[in-house]
Amino acid sequence: MREASRLRLVVGVSGGIAAYKAVGAIRAFVMDGHDVQVVATQAAYEFVGKSTLEAISHNPVFDSLYDDVSQVRHVALGQNADAIVIAPATAHTLAGIVAGLAPDLLGNAVLARRGPLVVAPAMHTEMWQNAATVHNVAVLRERGVVVVDPASGPLTGNDSGVGRMAEVHSIVSATYAAVGRSARDLAGVRILITGGGTREALDPVRFIGNSSSGRQAVALAEAARVRGASVHFVAGHMDVEPPSGIDITRAGTAELMRSAVLERLDDTDVLIMAAAVADYRPAQMSSTKLKKNSLGSNPTIELVENPDILAEAARHPRCLVIGFAAETAVNDAELLSLARHKASSKGAAAIVANRVNSGRGIGTDDNDVIVVSGDGRELGRSSGEKLSVAQSILDVVLHLRG
Ligand code: CTP
Repeated sequence: MREASRLRLVVGVSGGIAAYKAVGAIRAFVMDGHDVQVVATQAAYEFVGKSTLEAISHNPVFDSLYDDVSQVRHVALGQNADAIVIAPATAHTLAGIVAGLAPDLLGNAVLARRGPLVVAPAMHTEMWQNAATVHNVAVLRERGVVVVDPASGPLTGNDSGVGRMAEVHSIVSATYAAVGRSARDLAGVRILITGGGTREALDPVRFIGNSSSGRQAVALAEAARVRGASVHFVAGHMDVEPPSGIDITRAGTAELMRSAVLERLDDTDVLIMAAAVADYRPAQMSSTKLKKNSLGSNPTIELVENPDILAEAARHPRCLVIGFAAETAVNDAELLSLARHKASSKGAAAIVANRVNSGRGIGTDDNDVIVVSGDGRELGRSSGEKLSVAQSILDVVLHLRG
């Protein structure tokens, strides 16, 4: 599992009408599980609000050279970034970079950077075609800066021409390519993901269930889709909306989930069983609501075992099957040993194990996991937002597929 799967990106926003589109790029990076630090120029605020940038990036936005001077932020920002992306980059910003000017925090970060610089210019056609800008862009390219060319189309006034900032997906792909990572490293892989909890009915209104929210599974599905996989999601009962733009089958009980999974296995390359499946169901479901006075003072519920979907699926000759294990372990050593046992007893290619003591991992936005292979090797650890953990789990999928 590569910790590097979570990139540290500095997104510079300079002052142009396309600043509102920068919000889309920031959101795309955050949704892909990366840490985004926005640095805005004063002019950017003429076009997009600081609160919007902070809310979308999940981080405070820096704009002054003189905040927290003790942290030497003007140097650290650039030094620590895996890449700096400037979107939109105005003609003025491009000229400043060529000249090595550092009038503000963004200019300083650019000068102090160690990683690649990606710029997405946006300006009027005349400015883009002006000899000074043409020269500056050529110099930047010579120096290895990635320039995401502007597109042609309607501009801010009534005019039309070259100068519109490139679309978000082009900026995002160029950034990933610049840091040597394909954004679509799961292209063509068919992934089936289960999420949420099953409910096993006692009567028309009562059930045996669990508190799985479905958040980790949704994060996995979204991350896999962004990385190019073709994703099908089998949803149990969830606290969150199922992932958008993905085929979904609802399966609220273990038996329904079993059918939904098994019938797709031949057309699936990777199964990730993130659902919390009830191990038992009531032997009988009453068709009418159970009445208190008909059950006596010490009622017992007879249970029968549910099919183990993961164990059954793991016998498929071709599909790579990954399971989850939510365990109340006292420490990582115990968690590892439980995960190893589960991986081998179920025959899974890997088990993603997390501790669920005192509410951790379940119903929260964060997770903390250890992944072990079917033969007991520790493949890695990941902690943080579920989207970031999802990216790490998908890195394991890639690793196991070889
Ligand atoms: N699972 C499954 N079918 C079941 C029970 C669990 O496919 N009937 C899957 C889950 O989706 C998860 C993995 O098995 O990927 C582990 O589930 P867990 O409940 O932790 O394990 P159990 O097999 O129930 O073992 P135990 O309760 O003893 O920990």
